[in-house]
Amino acid sequence: MPNYSLLAALAAVASVTSLVHAVSSQAYTWKNVKVGGGGGFVPGIVFNPKEQGLAYARTDIGGAYKLNAATDTWTPLLDFADDSTWNYWGVAALATDPVQTNRLYLATGGYTNSWDPKNGNILISTDKGSTFTASPLPFKVGGNMPGRGIGERLAVDPNSNGILFFGAASGNGLWKSTDFGVTWTQVTSFPSVGTYAPDPKDSSGYNSQLIGIAWVTFDSTSGTAGSATPRIFVGVANQGSSNIFVTTNGGTTWSAVAGQNTTYLPHKGVLSPAEKVLYISYSNGAGPYDGTLGSVMKYDLATSTWTDITPVTGSDLTFGFGGVTVDLKVPGTIMVAALNSWWPDGQIFRSTNSGASWSPLWSWQSYPTMNKFYSYSDSLAPWLGPNFVDGTPGDLQIGWMMESLNIDPFDSNHWLYGTGATIYGGHDLLKWDTIHNVSISSLADGIEETSVQAVLSPPTGPTLISALGDIQGFVHEDLTKAPTVNWINPKWSTTADLDFAGNKPTNIVRIGTGDSTQGKQVALSYDSGNTWSQDYGAADNVTGGKVALSADGDTVLWRTNGNGVLVSQFTNPFAAVSSLPSTAAIASDKLNNSIFYGAAVNTFYLSTDGGKTFASKASLSSSTSPAKVIVNPKVSGDVWVSTDKGLFHSTDFGTSFTAISGISAAWAIALGAPKSSTSYPAIFAAANIGGIGYFRSDDMGVNWVKINDAAHGFGSASSNCISGDPRIYGRVYIGTNGRGIFYGDASGATPPPTSTASSTSATSKSTTSVSTTTSKNTSASTTTASSTTIASSTTTSSPPTSTGTAGAYGQCGGSNWTGPTTCVSGYKCTFSNDFYSQCVPA
Ligand SMILES: *[C@@H]1O[C@H](CO)[C@@H](O)[C@H](O)[C@H]1NC(C)=O
Ligand SMILES: *[C@@H]1O[C@H](CO)[C@@H](O)[C@H](O)[C@H]1NC(C)=O
Ligand SMILES: *[C@@H]1O[C@H](CO)[C@@H](O)[C@H](O)[C@H]1NC(C)=O
Ligand SMILES: *[C@@H]1O[C@H](CO)[C@@H](O)[C@H](O)[C@H]1NC(C)=O
Ligand SMILES: *[C@@H]1O[C@H](CO)[C@@H](O)[C@H](O)[C@H]1NC(C)=O
Ligand SMILES: *[C@@H]1O[C@H](CO)[C@@H](O)[C@H](O)[C@H]1NC(C)=O
Repeated sequence: MPNYSLLAALAAVASVTSLVHAVSSQAYTWKNVKVGGGGGFVPGIVFNPKEQGLAYARTDIGGAYKLNAATDTWTPLLDFADDSTWNYWGVAALATDPVQTNRLYLATGGYTNSWDPKNGNILISTDKGSTFTASPLPFKVGGNMPGRGIGERLAVDPNSNGILFFGAASGNGLWKSTDFGVTWTQVTSFPSVGTYAPDPKDSSGYNSQLIGIAWVTFDSTSGTAGSATPRIFVGVANQGSSNIFVTTNGGTTWSAVAGQNTTYLPHKGVLSPAEKVLYISYSNGAGPYDGTLGSVMKYDLATSTWTDITPVTGSDLTFGFGGVTVDLKVPGTIMVAALNSWWPDGQIFRSTNSGASWSPLWSWQSYPTMNKFYSYSDSLAPWLGPNFVDGTPGDLQIGWMMESLNIDPFDSNHWLYGTGATIYGGHDLLKWDTIHNVSISSLADGIEETSVQAVLSPPTGPTLISALGDIQGFVHEDLTKAPTVNWINPKWSTTADLDFAGNKPTNIVRIGTGDSTQGKQVALSYDSGNTWSQDYGAADNVTGGKVALSADGDTVLWRTNGNGVLVSQFTNPFAAVSSLPSTAAIASDKLNNSIFYGAAVNTFYLSTDGGKTFASKASLSSSTSPAKVIVNPKVSGDVWVSTDKGLFHSTDFGTSFTAISGISAAWAIALGAPKSSTSYPAIFAAANIGGIGYFRSDDMGVNWVKINDAAHGFGSASSNCISGDPRIYGRVYIGTNGRGIFYGDASGATPPPTSTASSTSATSKSTTSVSTTTSKNTSASTTTASSTTIASSTTTSSPPTSTGTAGAYGQCGGSNWTGPTTCVSGYKCTFSNDFYSQCVPA
């Protein structure tokens, strides 16, 4: 065991407050941990009508994807989005150019309320999404707002493809570009910005947002190639007043389409050019969760007449309509999806006579037996299957939130539709019309859209355990295979956090964020997360937050969401811990069952009585919001705290802290396997070290290497979670908010530790130049030799010297250390812990 009093004494002198060092980059190979099946809402799928096999899907929080038609797989397009461009991952609309099919446009932005401070962009690609240029919009775009499944709000003129229209939300109206999306101006002659908001009284601004312009549909038949299409239809989220408008002069003047029925909101307007018909789906809510009534209408362009072709009526109509599609190769064949048929299952209808009659994807044989006119396969995402939705009435096997429904314009057998959980589709759709039985499979391979709440790579057992939004979480035995089951007993839609017991690492705790049928939101596993028992010490309806499991696994410390900090030993009723603030980051010691740690505002807290009481320890400088406390699994009292003001290290249970030099803020942090058996664990951090990125240090935070690259930005840094792999040196897991889990392995050489002697760089802080052009590189990683000087200081350090003498801040001792044990002039070898001694200024 370490000598605690010696550690405390030495920590006080080992204060590394100012040094100049450099951050180099190390090439990493990044891959998704395969969950398979998407794992989230796919509000839009768009096929290019002119190039076979070209299609894209957009998501609300995880960017956009391109279809690889030959393999039924998808490639992510926006993985370059980083902390400064995280809102690119909210894709509110998508348009693929029907003339120059290489061109792709995405309308991006997170939220139109205060949750996203930034305006939206039109991302322009001329190479099918390999690279993008951003065209900033003067207003916000809400890729994850109510109404995000309606559309598409963005459209390219099929006769003159430099012309685009974009329908904005929030009262911003209709916008037009005539230069391939580079510049935009509002169409001031357009008569409506939309008056519908799901809940005008919502003070958060989320449900009170005006849904705005719903969709833009060019009538390609009204024009000729090379000239602007004269007739354009635009749907607007109005209920009870005109909601479909038309221009016949390319957008100069507009009028409400005569004879329209304004009872419901128009969700989609899809042209059948051969029929000269516009098919429109309606719902009485903006979606994606709502809709209890709706209709399907057809508007005949030649006769200007409307026909109600709603597939069901009366008491059978308990939903609105979302996705609608036409078979371009077989005019008159159309399909429409119930937006949300919550019971007994989703529903899709198909007509081969332009809506005169319909057949459903399932019908009642005699209650509760359903005729399922389909076979169902979840082989690519087995967790979607029996345990998640087993197809018994109420389990929504077909899906929900079905706003995107598409028949491949080049292949009448190929169809895809998006749901709240995945993309389904098949390759034998014409069998609907013959034997009335089609094959439906999860076809979202490559889409990893989960919102990751926590990742845990334990020292024994499975490689990884994940806590996910909406789909509970998984034990990942094989990172390349979709797991078969998610956590069902107990099942809470979102797992908020996880922890393991240091001395019994197969003991895991997880907490949930609410499921009315399983009120107690704490569960314990003794077999690495494979089976669980509910912790009956938890009160009903106490949920969320963060959790820590004591070293021996018998005590759960729980910083709840809204009910303060609670602790329970031996699954006894949880008791309030009043001495730890309700905002605290928490952690357990991994060796000593009595010890827990906390950090709130600028104070570190220690409990030595199993979490019952906490005492204030040292201050964390001027921090206001600690993000994470992590603990060296081999040394009690050796803790790291990330905060909005940097990264802090203590080796004496928080009695004193060292601020790590050069780090202005840090979020997720984790320890992983050490570089050698004698080194300190590798430290991983999402941090600002001369710029926001992901970094690793192999020497207790003295030198850092940047491990992410321009192609891997991981979105919002503060939203992400990290776990180091305790068994594989260099391996790190990054859980994102919308792009699933990545794992990275070093693929390039470790740069030499560089405590550079750049004494001349007084206050330099170089950052990447800002440009509106961002590009991604889909190849695994690039080996870069960039070096950014990140700290300024009056103190300079010496370069490392030859063996025999350790350089400034170099290792000079530790259990089994065979390297130099003396330091360069001006430095002295200082014991940090049993495993590490370091050269610090004398
Ligand atoms: C308009 O649509 C609603 C809902 O489908 C229907 O009840 C009503 O009869 C329609 N109005 C007219 C005039 O057709
Ligand atoms: C459709 O085919 C599947 C697979 O063969 C079968 O399980 C199902 O019962 C069929 N549906 C009907 C209504 O016959
Ligand atoms: C938990 O919440 C549910 C739903 O709001 C409520 O019906 C139930 O009474 C609550 N239980 C307790 C113990 O408060
Ligand atoms: C664990 O910590 C407690 C509280 O500081 C201490 O009394 C005890 O000796 C420690 N146990 C071990 C095995 O170090
Ligand atoms: C040091 O070496 C001994 C003997 O080879 C070994 O048992 C021990 O595990 C090593 N310690 C560390 C920390 O690697
Ligand atoms: C992508 O990276 C690879 C390998 O690092 C490089 O050869 C290639 O030129 C890059 N492509 C682009 C478009 O930058």
